[in-house]
Amino acid sequence: MHKSYLIWDLPLRLFHWLLVLTFGLLWLTAELGSEYMQYHMYCGYFMLFLIGFRLVWGFVGTKHAKFINFFPTFKRIKGYLTSDTNKRNSAVGHNPLGAIMVFVMLALLLAQAVSGLFITDDIFTSGPYNGVLEGDWQKLANRTHDIAFTLLQACVALHIVAIVFYKIVKHKDLIRPMLTGKKSSADVEEGAAIKHSKLLIALVVAVIVAVFVYWLVVINAPVIEAYYYY
Ligand code: HEM
Ligand code: HEM
Repeated sequence: MHKSYLIWDLPLRLFHWLLVLTFGLLWLTAELGSEYMQYHMYCGYFMLFLIGFRLVWGFVGTKHAKFINFFPTFKRIKGYLTSDTNKRNSAVGHNPLGAIMVFVMLALLLAQAVSGLFITDDIFTSGPYNGVLEGDWQKLANRTHDIAFTLLQACVALHIVAIVFYKIVKHKDLIRPMLTGKKSSADVEEGAAIKHSKLLIALVVAVIVAVFVYWLVVINAPVIEAYYYY
């Protein structure tokens, strides 16, 4: 009988599945057009909160959530690629190749959400900082919102293909641990387990990040009066 050990903390798992849901809603509301843009912005603010939370959690979270423990340094990537298959399969958290993807996706999501603050659909809806940028900077924000999404679609497709590959070819289910937090003692050693999810710290971080996002998109947002028509 295999025991199971806690590897992914609850806040990280919640972050992931809320991210999947929010990403889907952002995509949908963008496709549905201008009437749904207001909802697109609300989802975008929530996405800013999620990414902000994950960035802080990467410093104060549990062992396998901390960036320092899976940052894909050249040494780690080389070590991973040159190790034998058994050792390669024994990565507990993100392996170095998966970790590259994690950082790329987080960076793209951040760029996408931040650029959204500055743009407008030229109909009813503008991000709270639309009008602040001028000339080429404005164009850059528009292009970033466009290009980052295309890149994200490609990354997410690769992300899902990689997970299916692990399941079918390597017979490793990565989805279950992202749901339950646990991996079997057949795959990981007891020493790799985390003791608990640091829920109290997560709550404090979530409140601070939520207040920051509220300040950013409501309190600090400039009032731009260039678009009044009588
Ligand atoms: C990661 C988060 C986000 C994703 C994945 C996302 C995705 C998208 C997509 C796919 C489009 C359609 C692009 C096009 O038609 O060319 C779009 C347009 C738009 N988004 Fe976002 N968005 C995000 C965050 C935000 C945020 C935070 C805001 C503002 C608060 C925002 C405001 C807008 C606006 C105003 C448009 C219309 C732009 C236009 O018509 O050219 N988005 N977004
Ligand atoms: C239904 C589709 C999805 C499934 C089944 C899925 C599954 C997973 C799994 C199993 C992991 C853990 C990988 C590992 O063990 O190293 C993971 C991590 C991750 N996924 Fe997904 N994913 C999905 C969609 C997405 C989407 C749409 C995004 C982004 C827009 C995303 C972003 C991430 C990120 C950033 C991580 C790293 C988690 C962290 O450490 O913060 N995923 N995903």
